[in-house]
Amino acid sequence: MTHHHHHRRNSSALPGRMGLAGLTWLFWHTFVARAATVTYDFNITWVTANPDGMADRPTIGINGHWPIPTIHVNVGDQLVVNVLNSLGDVSTSLHFHGLFMRSAAHMDGPVSVTQCPIPPGERFTYNFTVDQPGTYWYHSHIHGQYPDGLRGPLIVHDPETPFKDMYDEEVVMTVSDWYHEQMHGLLSWFMSKANPTGAEPVPNSALLNDTQNLTVPLQPGKTYLFRMVNIGAFAGQYVWFEGHNMTIVEVDGVYTHPAEASMIYLSAAQRCSFLVTARNDTSANFPIVASMDTDLFDKLPDDLNWNVTGWLVYDSAQPLPGPAVLYDPFDPFDDMGLVPWDNQTLLGEPDQTISLDVIMDNLGDGANYAFFNNITYVAPKVPTLYTVLTAGSYATDPAVYGTYTHPFVLEKDQVVDIVLNNLDPGKHPFHLHGHAFQVIWRSQDEAGTFADSNVTAADFASVPMKRDTVVLRPNGNMVLRFKADNPGVWLFHCHIEWHVQSGLMATFVEAPIEMQKTLTIPQDHLAVCEKAGVPTAGNAAGNSVDWLDLKGERTPPARLPEG
Ligand code: C2O
Repeated sequence: MTHHHHHRRNSSALPGRMGLAGLTWLFWHTFVARAATVTYDFNITWVTANPDGMADRPTIGINGHWPIPTIHVNVGDQLVVNVLNSLGDVSTSLHFHGLFMRSAAHMDGPVSVTQCPIPPGERFTYNFTVDQPGTYWYHSHIHGQYPDGLRGPLIVHDPETPFKDMYDEEVVMTVSDWYHEQMHGLLSWFMSKANPTGAEPVPNSALLNDTQNLTVPLQPGKTYLFRMVNIGAFAGQYVWFEGHNMTIVEVDGVYTHPAEASMIYLSAAQRCSFLVTARNDTSANFPIVASMDTDLFDKLPDDLNWNVTGWLVYDSAQPLPGPAVLYDPFDPFDDMGLVPWDNQTLLGEPDQTISLDVIMDNLGDGANYAFFNNITYVAPKVPTLYTVLTAGSYATDPAVYGTYTHPFVLEKDQVVDIVLNNLDPGKHPFHLHGHAFQVIWRSQDEAGTFADSNVTAADFASVPMKRDTVVLRPNGNMVLRFKADNPGVWLFHCHIEWHVQSGLMATFVEAPIEMQKTLTIPQDHLAVCEKAGVPTAGNAAGNSVDWLDLKGERTPPARLPEG
């Protein structure tokens, strides 16, 4: 007989995370490590926050607090998150970034994909088993909303981690960009004819653990596992600890063979865990520096400090020094050099190859949109998963999902290649829901398209790096490979929140008939659709009489006439 422990946690019962991440871990560690049901009750509300000391702003908090809580579970636990949307003025949702949602694709969180929006005043429960160890995060997946504050770490502890004998304590650390304006206003400027080049709003500052005063107490000689998450909207960040090396052991929930680094780069949505051994000498404190990747910014405002400093504190009586070195150019660890701990070899030849060109272009409204090939994403009238579940045998025909969800239907257990060609001079961190992919090829900057680059299978690593978010280089290309062994509707998108809004997304409908056999949508999920006035049956246009008639499908603005 198995015993299930039921834990109910209210975030306000947790100690603060600022500078006390280790304490949160100690608190957590007092729980028995056995399959449990871990429940969080999240009342999502507006609060006021001012993490950089420069501007109070309305920020999305949980249970009256911001920063929002870090979710802690053990591998094998059942995680239940009861959401109450008390924002009053706007819908919400939660996505658990990097978790595969095996047999629970309806719990993935993106609105119009696997669920309806949760309107103000409504409740919605996420309930799934967590079977992957490592460092994840959770965030809103509607309205470009997470940079308003609704984003935090999610840690899956693993009593059997291969590195358990190599460290004494864990420290969860987030890095983020921060805006003083709310996303709603920034987005309406970003997607307007006043901004025809699609210049992304530049953040106002950078944060470590949602503050600019982070101190991490270290004890001499101890080794710490730092779990670092970039929960930002836009900026990739260079991160280094002065006077200390990092030994990387995990990226995006994938354990790696230990790799030495002196600096890492984390794009929006990437995670990295690394070991840091404290010095034996307590006579000085050392800066932790995160530096926003200013290559991403169209212009550099005069008053922007793109660095944020925190400190490894050995002795609080000693000064907290500023960074000794500011690098230019930066030389971060190349994640392509990482070898997954499971030594998984290159998957076999692909059964399906999806080729996507990344393009930025204007449409008839004068605003700048992002495209995969010739398609900019527009949400369907019926969430794509609900189309799958109501379309019967039509579910294998991509036509029912409409043109502008940019659907690809994958058969169960197919090996799939995604070939990405960046026809844009910006870096783009691409993320696939429901999977970690093998990154079997990535070019340097300005390499042109994959087809033009004479790369062959002989150039692919025999044990490729794996993660769930990877940076495509400016005007470069890459090839991602994964096995379609996880039925679900999975978004593939750039994780720069501006580009989610401008349409840089495609939809992978993986094993639809399998989903029909295994998934049942809970009543509370259907209830929010009713409240939101969103249909739960039919094709992308809401038609369940003639499944191939997409008349009425939502469309982007027409293209500008040629010439
Ligand atoms: Cu962090 Cu669509 O995800």
